[in-house]
Amino acid sequence: MNRQFLLDKRPLGRDLEYTDFKLVDSDVPSPGDGEVLVQVMYLGVDPAMKGWMENRADYVAPLEIGDLMRGNGIGRVIESNHEKFPVGAVVSGGFGWQEYAVSDGKNIPLNPVPEGVPPTAPLSVLGITGLTAYFGFLEVGLPKEGDVVLISGAAGATGSVVGQLAKLKGCSKVVGIAGSKEKCDFLVNELGFDAAINYREEDQAARVKELCPDGIDVFFDNVGGEILDIALENISDNARVVICGGISRYNLAGDIPGPKNYFNLVFRRARMEGFIVLDYAPRFGEAIAYLAKHVAAGDIIAKETVMEGFEQMPNALMALFAGENIGKQLVHIAD
Ligand SMILES: NC(=O)c1ccc[n+]([C@@H]2O[C@H](COP(=O)([O-])OP(=O)(O)OC[C@H]3O[C@@H](n4cnc5c(N)ncnc54)[C@H](OP(=O)(O)O)[C@@H]3O)[C@@H](O)[C@H]2O)c1
Repeated sequence: MNRQFLLDKRPLGRDLEYTDFKLVDSDVPSPGDGEVLVQVMYLGVDPAMKGWMENRADYVAPLEIGDLMRGNGIGRVIESNHEKFPVGAVVSGGFGWQEYAVSDGKNIPLNPVPEGVPPTAPLSVLGITGLTAYFGFLEVGLPKEGDVVLISGAAGATGSVVGQLAKLKGCSKVVGIAGSKEKCDFLVNELGFDAAINYREEDQAARVKELCPDGIDVFFDNVGGEILDIALENISDNARVVICGGISRYNLAGDIPGPKNYFNLVFRRARMEGFIVLDYAPRFGEAIAYLAKHVAAGDIIAKETVMEGFEQMPNALMALFAGENIGKQLVHIAD
């Protein structure tokens, strides 16, 4: 049988629940001409999935009640009628929340997993979150040597890569904000951040001022809300505020308050800009080559948190909102 998770309820304006998803059994599909059957080994989860469930995201096609949950995975080809993907090939692609997927190859990028990186890297550091860090930080944040960089959601899949890129680019001070002492220790001791702020236990406004007394040159925001206001209050002249995500707002609905301190952008001649990583798709190859080289060299640590078993998929997505993950949250489905 092929177990699948379908969208059952829209979690608009509230926390996710396991029962927002429907677990169903269906027959393992058969590949037709030019198609392959993939047994899924790992699936990744992203906060954006909640927006797709609510149909709030306008940059992807709507997800209807009863649709297969959308998502990226890694799997092995177990039947093949496609010359480019022989039986046994390990492939990554948009397989959805299911144990077996038929593909005509269009959702499977042809790049093989580069040498020297973990096999799950196409879901983490070489996947959407690593690419988001790369393009959001380098193309929108435009870091310069000596810059002071502040990152919210710093111990997550995207934030952890942004901080490491900042160190590679010669930024003078990289400060991460995360939700536990364990995460803050990880950022400083394992990833080489200069400092970390535990927003659940420390006064983050006071700590940002203390750690960035001359101002923030690049603020990479995954969280929004209060921390965005704190950062805006502390930007330096010509600062770049990168709006990558706003997970603190994803469970809210209705009139969501905007940043109070936006006018400091005027006084500081600064820029605040959002982006969608998919717009950089034509350049993904360049980013993957750069990130793979630095992962293989040990300059970038590809941290992952793995849950065991297909039935954990909803819990894995909920874990992102509870801050249980360090690095990329994955689910191991099969060997
Ligand atoms: N613009 C784009 O193209 C693009 C692409 C991909 C992702 N994104 C966005 O990038 C952000 C990070 O995504 P990711 O996949 O890398 O997820 P992630 O950072 O691995 O996981 C989410 C993290 O957010 C933190 N968090 C959850 N609720 C929070 C709250 N209420 N306040 C503060 N922090 C909270 C948690 O860490 P703590 O323990 O630290 O709270 C959690 O670990 C998301 O906002 C996502 O939507 C944007």
